[in-house]
This record gives sequence, structure tokens and C-alpha cells, in this order.
Amino acid sequence: MAADSCEVEFNRLKVLIMPQRIQKRRLETIKIAAKKRGVNTVCELSAEVTHVVTEFETMEQVVRALKMDNVASLGNVETVSLRWLTDCFKAGKVIPVTEEYRLKLEMLESSQNGNEADDKHPSLLPEWACQRATPLEHYNHRLTTDIETLQLHSELRDQEQDYSRALAFRRASCVLKCLPFRVTDISQISNIKDVGDHVKRVVKDILEDGFSSEVDEMNNNAWFNKMKLFTGVFGVGPSTAKKWIERGWTSIQDAAEAEDLSKDWRVRWGLAFHEELQTRVERPEADNFMFMVRAEAQRILPGTTVELTGGFRRGKKTGHDVDLLISHPQEGAEVGLLPRLLKQLENRGLILCGSYERNSFTEDVLRQDFKLSQRGQLDHFEKWLGICKFPKQFATTQNGQDVVQEAAGMTPSSSKLSGSMEEDYEPKAKLRKLGCIDKCPRSVASEERDWLARRVDLIVAPYSQYYYALVGWTGSKHFNRDLRLYATRVLGMKLMSHGLYNISKDCVVPAGSEKEVFDNMQIPYREPTQRNC
Ligand code: UTP
Ligand code: MN
Repeated sequence: MAADSCEVEFNRLKVLIMPQRIQKRRLETIKIAAKKRGVNTVCELSAEVTHVVTEFETMEQVVRALKMDNVASLGNVETVSLRWLTDCFKAGKVIPVTEEYRLKLEMLESSQNGNEADDKHPSLLPEWACQRATPLEHYNHRLTTDIETLQLHSELRDQEQDYSRALAFRRASCVLKCLPFRVTDISQISNIKDVGDHVKRVVKDILEDGFSSEVDEMNNNAWFNKMKLFTGVFGVGPSTAKKWIERGWTSIQDAAEAEDLSKDWRVRWGLAFHEELQTRVERPEADNFMFMVRAEAQRILPGTTVELTGGFRRGKKTGHDVDLLISHPQEGAEVGLLPRLLKQLENRGLILCGSYERNSFTEDVLRQDFKLSQRGQLDHFEKWLGICKFPKQFATTQNGQDVVQEAAGMTPSSSKLSGSMEEDYEPKAKLRKLGCIDKCPRSVASEERDWLARRVDLIVAPYSQYYYALVGWTGSKHFNRDLRLYATRVLGMKLMSHGLYNISKDCVVPAGSEKEVFDNMQIPYREPTQRNC
């Protein structure tokens, strides 16, 4: 009788045994022992896998070996040491996964060694997200993923109160990302100010039932899924997406057919290249492109700095675009660089389409009153937002320098498409269309080609604003939002990517490093990898 119920328990398991670090003979023995007890063992990760069993020490090692993006991609699966499985065999039953068996996170371990450990206790967490260290990997992905679904739903619904509702969900999610343990009981978070009743309800459901029916319903809701689909298109925000849904469109195909003549170039190209733009940009691609842009920029203007910012700078292995921040240590030297750089990139056949915006910053911008609930993070930097053509070798070559060398021999393939360059990149124009923007996007997409379409933002910051711009363009978006709110509420100052404005003294506060930006804000410095809130 007892044997039967144990067998049933073992039957429930679907275990992925990672072969790394296990001797062949031992692995065979374990597999035989598993089979004898009715444990299902598999070689690949799938949704049905209940446990990943390994001799690796950290979650990151597992994620790397499985060639996954991050720990979040492991979802709900328990990742445990091999000892758990052998202990189960010894006990003759499936024993609970306790902390001693569960794999730890490198990132978290290292951020806790040292003086940050103290402020990790839930009741001691600093109030503002910008005051806390928030790593990319943490213990509560299962909860934060669902809470951020609630956040996104509010953002997309975009009705009265939805902005503050979305913000409240994000705050709760961010607090959970800082906890040095996996939440297993609601009491562990009952006293955290940022976790409100709604989130507590959702967390309780997930802890008790393994899922939240509210979030599940959301994920199955047709309107929500269409909104997610349409706002995923370059150039499409919630209001356009709503219009498309009202017209009865349900697929990208529907929109692509009807919007072929859209006045907005982003929408035309975004739709034609949607599928490709949806695939994640890998880190080597971003690095190689950055090396290429840096080499070109420095050829035009020696001393130019080009940095990869956005999620990649925060340690993400993939991104939805490539954000490059360009500057020059000699204030003013950067003027006129971007149009020339774009021309060079176009000569190299790297530009698909995009638009150029001139710098529209004046100090008045800092003085102007601005609404804190403002959704956009619009800044006034000179910039180019568009889609680039990444040679496919970008994804497979690790050494960016080689790619740059090779690309130096690339033929200027697209220059014929764009007429007079000097005119196209005329920097006085507020907004200029560039690239092969007048071609039919769908026919370009279906041509045989050796490149991938990738979203790129090129931003130029004068050196006096550079470190504020670097913080702003490194993000995360929520980190910035929190910083700006903190500046207003706590310091009575105004923060933008252009600088920090001391309202009472009517002056801007300079910064010569990222550290100084944090010092000026009177908050502890955080490395980019700790700004993932
Ligand atoms: P992204 O939207 O590219 O975010 O903006 P991300 O974190 O890099 O995400 P993935 O990995 O591409 O999906 C990069 C940073 O630039 C800021 C955002 O706040 C974000 O922190 N940003 C973006 C601006 O300051 N202004 C903008 O107009 C756009
Ligand atoms: Mn980005």
C-alpha cells in the first residue's frame, strides 16, 4: 500500500537530469534507479518538466548550459541539486524541496556579500526603488511575472486611474525583486508598504494554487492579447492599437494589408518587418554593431565615445533594440557628427529606414514645469530612431573588431536609394526621413538578403549632460521614473536626462561621472546591473 502511493508520487515527477559534471557511470546508475521507481527522466526542458536536477552550483550556470536567456525563462520549474533526487531515492519517497536543495543565484549571492546585506531585510528595505539594489535575477520571478502582467494590462487599458494602478503594481513587483529569498508564505510580505491588498491576493493565489485565476483570465483575454500584439509593432502605441481592434483587425496580417499606405513610416516598416523585429537582439549583435558605429564615429571625429546603453548595459543578454549613446569629451565637438555618421553607416549598407531629430534642448526645458505622471520620457537630444540592417554574421562573430575590418570592405549598397545625402541629413530640419524609406517595405522584407532588421536608437548628448543622459538611457524605465519622482518629492529638484535642476537656486547641478549623478541625488551609487527594477 505504502509502496503504491510512493510510486504514484514518483510517477508525478518529470525530471531533467543535466549531464554536466556527472560521471557517465554515475549518471547511468541514477537513470536506472529513477526508472525502477517510475520517475520520468527527460533530456530536454519542456513545460511538463517538474524538476531540473544538476551538479551545477548556481542558477546562472544552469541557464547558460540550457542556452536560455535568463532565470525567468525557467518559469515554475524547481532547480535542485542532484542530492535531492538521490535523497528521494534513499527516503523511498518524494521529499519536499527545501532551501538546502534549491540552487542559488550568483548575482544575489555576490550583491549580498558586503554592506548591502543589511538593507535586504523586508522591513529594512529603503522606501524608494532608486535607493535599492535590484538585480536582474532574483528569487521571485514566478510572482513578479504575473504582477507585471497586471501592470501591463493597466497600462494598455489606459483609462482613468490606470496609470497609478500600473505604477502600484510595478512598485510591488520591484520590492519582490529585492528580497533575498523566495516568498513561500504570504506572511513574509505582509508588512511591506509597496505590496497592497490586490497584489497580496494574487500572491496568495499563486502560493496556494500555483496560479492566479485573475492573471490567467487576463492572459486568455482576447482584447489583451490583441493589444499586446499590436503595441508590439514599432510605432504603435495603445491608442492606435485600440483603433485597430475597433476596426475588427485581429492579426498583423490584417493591419499590414490595410496600413500599407500608412502615413507613419514606422508603422509601414514595423508591420512589414514585425516578425523579425520581434526576435530578440543577442548581445554579440549589439556589441558588433556598437564596435562598428564606434569605429565609424571615431574616424569622423577622433575622441568620440559610443556606449551601449539600455537593457544590455544592465546585464541583459537580449534586448528589443540597440540603444547607443554618443558623446565627445570636448563640449560642442559633437555638433554635426550624427548626420555625417549616418551617411557613413548608410554607405556601409547598414541603414534600412529611420528618422532624424535635431537637438531641441534649451535650459528652459529644465525650468519648465512638468507633470510627473507624464507617460513619455521624451528628451530633447539630437537622435536617430530607426531600423538598421545587421549583417547575419553579427550574431555569430564574437570579436567585433573583425567584423569592423570585414565590413570596411562592404559595398555601399544602399546609397543609390536615398538621393542626395547632404540634403537628407540636413541637421536643421526638425525631422527627416532617411534610408530607403520610400521603397515598399513589404517587397524589401521579402527580398533575399543576408541581414536582419534591428531597431536602433542613436542618441547624441553634449558632454555637460552626458552622465545624466547615461543614467537616463541605461534605465530601467522604472528606475528612471522613480529617480525623477524622488528628485521632485524628496529633493525639490527636477531631474531629466539633460541634467538635475535645483529649482530654489535656479541652477543646474553638474556631474562628471555616474557616481556624481547619484551623489547629487543623495542616494547610494548602484552599478547598472543593480538598476533592474
Ligand atoms: P528601452 O525602451 O530600449 O528599454 O529604453 P530597455 O531597458 O533597453 O529594454 P529592451 O532590453 O531594449 O527591451 C532604454 C532606456 O532608455 C530610456 C528608457 O527609460 C530606458 O531606460 N529612454 C527610452 C529614454 O530615456 N527616452 C526614450 O525616448 C526612450
Ligand atoms: Mn533597449
